[in-house]
Amino acid sequence: MAKKILVIVGSLSKDSINRKLANGLVALAPASMAFEFAELGDLPVYNRDDDANQPPAAKRLKAQIEAADGVMFVTPEYNRSIPASLKNVIDHASRPSGQSSWFGRAGAIIGTSPGGVGTALAQQHLRTILSAQGVKVMPQPDAYIQFKDGLITGDGQIGEASRAFLQKWMDAFVQWVDKVA
Ligand code: FNR
Repeated sequence: MAKKILVIVGSLSKDSINRKLANGLVALAPASMAFEFAELGDLPVYNRDDDANQPPAAKRLKAQIEAADGVMFVTPEYNRSIPASLKNVIDHASRPSGQSSWFGRAGAIIGTSPGGVGTALAQQHLRTILSAQGVKVMPQPDAYIQFKDGLITGDGQIGEASRAFLQKWMDAFVQWVDKVA
């Protein structure tokens, strides 16, 4: 049976370069992986007063995370950390206390930005946050992707210059999910 992978893109922008990267990566994956993209746009800002009565979007996302064999995080870097939209879903799904949806999931982190740092700082923050939630984050390879013309082709594929590197990343993720899930 295909392994279920939930893709969480940290950007809400309709023109997100990270969403483009995520779509390009999905196209590199084998048929043994079935991908679903999480919708974060309807998730209210987390408030612990609602823990006993979580908003419907939080319940939906918790169920998606729990049903997944692996979670692929594709995140921008905002002000040298992760976007609030991504922290928000992590916080929602970590509650109620003792009922975190994250524990034991296989995860992998990747991201792109136009700057040379290629989301490295955001990725390090995210690794720390997810590790504390018990997500088994793929340790290697690191992938700090500088977004340049040609990274994604006009038809949404990974461009030639980056394809071999990102194929290796996807192959490692497939193996990681097989090992951990
Ligand atoms: C940015 N950007 C950015 N880039 C970076 O490399 N390091 C950073 O700390 C930041 N900080 C930052 C803050 C905010 C609020 C915005 C809106 C942007 C630039 C960012 O990489 C660029 O806008 C990307 O296009 C964002 O990714 P998505 O949303 O297109 O996927």
